[in-house]
Amino acid sequence: MRIKKFLLVLIFFLSNTQILFADEAKMNKGLLIFNETAGCAACHVLKAAGSEGNIGPNLDTVEGLNYDSVMDIVIHGLGVMPAFGEDEILSKDEIDTVSFYVANSVGK
Ligand code: HEC
Repeated sequence: MRIKKFLLVLIFFLSNTQILFADEAKMNKGLLIFNETAGCAACHVLKAAGSEGNIGPNLDTVEGLNYDSVMDIVIHGLGVMPAFGEDEILSKDEIDTVSFYVANSVGK
């Protein structure tokens, strides 16, 4: 009985840390895309990324940014901001990763 409980706890723990590691890897990849691959940093302030671009809005102070809204603007662009998806500047995977990164970094 004891062993069973222990195993259950262990499995629970392992599956959770795996998710944590996966998130952390995605955040690191997203940071790289933000600062280098896509160059979001050249136009936007985002404290978590250490970026100070001031062509676009400060992403830390934009109200209500979330994964879907970031993804939408990264795909379609707006004004001066390039349409990274429509113009195939970034892959679908990269857009997913950088949107995840930004949504989880604003205000931090
Ligand atoms: C050439 C400069 C430039 C680059 C590069 C750029 N942006 Fe932007 N971005 C802008 C500008 C300018 C706006 C505001 C557009 C408007 O409102 O007309 C904007 C708007 C946004 C918004 C919406 C903010 C709001 O007010 O709702 C988000 C989110 C965003 N950018 C994220 C990104 C991400 C993520 C990247 C990289 C994949 C990126 N931007 C790359 C210039 C840029």
